[in-house]
Amino acid sequence: MNQRTLGTSGLSVNPVGLGCMGFSHAYGAPTDRQTAVRTLREAVDLGYDFFDTAESYTGVNPDGSISYNEELVGEALRDVQDKVVIATKMGVAHNPDRSLRLDSQPETIRKSVEGSLKKLGTDYIDLYYQHRINPNVEPETVADTMAQLMKEGKIRAWGISEATEDYLRRAHAVCPVAAIQNRYSMMARAHEALFPVCEELNVAFVAFSPMANGFLTGAYRPGTQFTDGQDYRAAMPQYTEEGYTKAQGLLELLTRMAEEKDATMGQISLAWMLCKKPYIVPIPGSRKPERLRENFAAGEITLTPEEVTAIDTRLDTMDFAVFGGHSGK
Ligand SMILES: NC(=O)c1ccc[n+]([C@@H]2O[C@H](COP(=O)([O-])OP(=O)(O)OC[C@H]3O[C@@H](n4cnc5c(N)ncnc54)[C@H](OP(=O)(O)O)[C@@H]3O)[C@@H](O)[C@H]2O)c1
Repeated sequence: MNQRTLGTSGLSVNPVGLGCMGFSHAYGAPTDRQTAVRTLREAVDLGYDFFDTAESYTGVNPDGSISYNEELVGEALRDVQDKVVIATKMGVAHNPDRSLRLDSQPETIRKSVEGSLKKLGTDYIDLYYQHRINPNVEPETVADTMAQLMKEGKIRAWGISEATEDYLRRAHAVCPVAAIQNRYSMMARAHEALFPVCEELNVAFVAFSPMANGFLTGAYRPGTQFTDGQDYRAAMPQYTEEGYTKAQGLLELLTRMAEEKDATMGQISLAWMLCKKPYIVPIPGSRKPERLRENFAAGEITLTPEEVTAIDTRLDTMDFAVFGGHSGK
């Protein structure tokens, strides 16, 4: 499998990474520790070598204790740390009402990095993202702090999640950014505007929620209920009746293409972005070994440039109701 490079960091990874968030956060009650660790180890055996977590990925276990995603990832990957790339993030905390509290002050970054190192059980972090831009802290300040952490050997590279062009340019001028991590899927293409910037600066584009929070797999039907209080999908517009109605054309397109390519709908949704740009790395999340296998294998599916363009042309005509952003471009 051809590896993809993360900017000029010297890090390279297989085309499909693994989003680990769901084991603790946002998709219902956390997975129990033993199962999560076993599944993450299975992911390594399947070929995954790029794992995405965050300081803020936490959830409440049935016994009331907190599931810290970084601890699960750290425990699972400790023995293979030198063979994989582990990314984590700082700079946001979740309020009880699910709104975000942003803090990227240098002293907070330093405190967070120590906490993440401890939870991961490592002495360095491969890729350290600022999870969200903090309007009260200049990008140069964050970049300078990251540069110091790199010098101290605490992190190997850094990135920005939900980056904007201006912020990325200013930060990159101080300390080269290896990757941005933004929402990107067939239903949320606003950040395509950043592709030329990634190309110019040699920055990788890590795509989060690449299957529109699972919607593009076609595994869910109108009426599917997400009843667990910790499952954010209950409030996501794509899972409403209107969401399904608006996405009907896309689901039909995916069904047809999946048949043509002897693939699954989810695989087509990932192959579409993988075949679009060599610096895009989707990080679909799953807690189920069979789905991990399926998603990883999307890296083997080829869509021709003409097929990618034809899909884009169709997407341009569609309007979606989707979490975290506007549809289309
Ligand atoms: N930087 C940020 O602000 C940010 C925000 C959100 C997410 N992320 C990162 O991006 C990762 C991926 O995003 P995401 O989890 O929100 O969305 P996603 O990858 O688009 O979708 C994940 C959902 O799809 C389901 N799923 C996965 N593969 C499937 C398959 N083959 N068939 C059917 N269902 C499937 C999963 O359920 P099961 O687990 O039950 O399989 C899960 O509910 C996260 O884990 C996290 O690391 C980052």
